[in-house]
Amino acid sequence: MTSTSPNNASPYGTLPPASSPATRKPVSLPRLHEMHARGEKITMLTAYDATFAAVADAAGVETILVGDSLGMVCQGLSSTVGVTLETMRYHVESVKRGVLRVQGTAWIIGDLPYGSYHESKEQAFRSAAVLMQAGAHMVKLEGGGWTTETVRFLVERGIPVCGHLGLTPQTVHALGGYRVQGKTEASAAQLMRDSLALQDAGATLLVLEMVPAALSAEVTRALPQCATIGIGAGVDTAGQVLVLHDMLGVNLGKNAKFVRNFMADAGSVRGAMETYVRAVKDGSFPVNAEHAW
Ligand code: KIV
Repeated sequence: MTSTSPNNASPYGTLPPASSPATRKPVSLPRLHEMHARGEKITMLTAYDATFAAVADAAGVETILVGDSLGMVCQGLSSTVGVTLETMRYHVESVKRGVLRVQGTAWIIGDLPYGSYHESKEQAFRSAAVLMQAGAHMVKLEGGGWTTETVRFLVERGIPVCGHLGLTPQTVHALGGYRVQGKTEASAAQLMRDSLALQDAGATLLVLEMVPAALSAEVTRALPQCATIGIGAGVDTAGQVLVLHDMLGVNLGKNAKFVRNFMADAGSVRGAMETYVRAVKDGSFPVNAEHAW
């Protein structure tokens, strides 16, 4: 009879045994602050399962976002609005297992899905606890203004937080589509106020999505304690994030302007991720004239 012992090598995938020693130091909150203070770009990529998370970790991606973009790329939904907390918990657990199987280095960010933090600070804490217990090191939530007190509440209770401003996909219907945000003087000033408030509330990272490059550069300069992570926000943010499937060219539609297909010249997924990490670190991706507004 075939043994089902977990010590036997699985024929599916080639992740090493769980006991493989880490060769790099795990990313921590102080390390993220220190990288930001030194001006070293922070790399972030989404991942939703163990294998891609393990490869991203091995490729040197410092922060893995288990984004609710999984609603689109894994579940086939038309927006992130339908993603549930239980689904996010499942994917965070999978990513955590993958990261632990290889380097165990990457910082894992769990996206709080729509409706899981909107009612009250207490609801947000309960939802964040689910993702932290599933293996996240940090949670991400969208929006400014009303989220400030929620962020403060979570940070005071030991939960590191990443904010998300600009194009916030969970409110795509209210925004009227996937459009560049902060183009008017008033909306740019509001985005700056919201960013400062999130920093003051203790957010460590802040995703800026589809924001004019000049504005995100200004916001980045105004936030010494909170590292901006751009996606369609120009080259001057403290770090960059892309959705995994987009940067690997795994889609049937047209990529957004801010995406580069790193797989095109890479030859392997790991190679594509390593090129991405290098390009973010040396500032050659993104290029404002090509990928920003
Ligand atoms: O869910 C996600 O993948 C995100 C990124 C687009 C930043 O929020």
